[in-house]
Amino acid sequence: QADVFTYDPGFTSTASCDSTITFIDGDKGELLHRGYPIDQLAEKSHYLEVCYLLLYGELPSSGELEKFENTITRHTMLHEQMQYFFRGFRRDAHPMATMVGVVGAMSAFYHDSTDISDNSQREIASHRLIAKMPTIAAWAYKYSIGQPFVYPRNDLSYAANFLHMCFSVPAEPYHVNPILSRAMDRIFTLHADHEQNASTSTVRLASSSGANPFACIAAGIACLWGPAHGGANQACLEMLKEIGSPDKIPEYIARAKDKNDPFRLMGFGHRVYKNFDPRATVMKQSADEVLDLLGVENNPVLATAKELEKQALADDYFSEKKLFPNVDFYSGIILEAMGFPTSMFTPIFALSRTVGWVSQWKEQLADPHHRIGRPRQLYRGHTLRDYTDIENR
Ligand code: SDX
Repeated sequence: QADVFTYDPGFTSTASCDSTITFIDGDKGELLHRGYPIDQLAEKSHYLEVCYLLLYGELPSSGELEKFENTITRHTMLHEQMQYFFRGFRRDAHPMATMVGVVGAMSAFYHDSTDISDNSQREIASHRLIAKMPTIAAWAYKYSIGQPFVYPRNDLSYAANFLHMCFSVPAEPYHVNPILSRAMDRIFTLHADHEQNASTSTVRLASSSGANPFACIAAGIACLWGPAHGGANQACLEMLKEIGSPDKIPEYIARAKDKNDPFRLMGFGHRVYKNFDPRATVMKQSADEVLDLLGVENNPVLATAKELEKQALADDYFSEKKLFPNVDFYSGIILEAMGFPTSMFTPIFALSRTVGWVSQWKEQLADPHHRIGRPRQLYRGHTLRDYTDIENR
């Protein structure tokens, strides 16, 4: 049977690996991290505790958590010379372009954590990537708006530090709103890991050749950028703004159903979830809470999103194809209310997913039987034929 390949347009049916980290039941809309349901983790835990769970398999004791948080906190600074990488980009470069470049460049700076055969180096690389990604994302943002880089602070939580690096300026003190910090942390948690999605599979495939961790994570960031994947949160908010008001929704639903129209409802549908995306449920609740707490009354984009969800779910096309809001449908509304431009939505997804990529990278390297990935194909081209000289063509 090994030589008989069936063409599967999205590798839907082929298992690329086994794993103990994240479980998804697409029919039940269930997402478990090391057995714990995402809604409980989003409500009761916080991102760095979820990072520990994903990396080490168990929830930490208070001592273990304190040690881990202390380690991450003390790795948030970037090598000072890395600023030159940011300054090499045009100011209008998309922050994702900057993140791909800077993370890949980490291979040139952190030589003492690039040897994947050394477990202690793998551990250091894991901590550096999780710790430094908020600094890299925040500096990509600051660079794009022409403001000075803001250094991380050790007295702030992981989420508060990121907000501080994004929104504070040297000219005046910046107080991190605890509501925003909690909402930011919850968004990080909701995006932390998601089984073998396209970007995680990219990281695994890159890692299978023995590439260093920074190059592998840069590959994952590049893959996440696509609008069918992590780029959907930016595309979704732009779509909701283009729709503009609930009365325009039927027109866009008709376009989404039209096979001759390439338009798709951004933030809708999922390869695995065939009932609902549990992350979208939590995100929708969070959107209501955050906008209410921020005093953003009657946000027109949120009203359009809720009406679009209602009308789409009432439409046979979407119910038959099992299409409904995914994690990207409501996240952009919250992020915009927090003050982020749409160009920062996917960088925040990449920041959040770094722990998932790193955990899966570590898991693959820990498997003594893992080999280089080598997907095969169903060849549909010419059979053997002889070269034809140009005068005879
Ligand atoms: C993420 O894999 C992961 O886990 C990813 C992710 C993670 O955490 O890592 O969950 C994050 O990427 C979420 C998805 C974000 N992307 C979007 O919201 C973009 C819009 N959605 C679609 O492009 C699509 O739904 C995908 C990419 C999400 C899923 O694509 P599939 O599984 O390949 O589904 P498909 O393209 O085969 O669609 C099945 C049918 C098609 O119609 P038919 O060819 O069967 O007639 O449903 C239609 C599609 O045309 N369809 C849509 C649609 N999504 C699918 N029609 C209109 N609008 C949509 N959004």
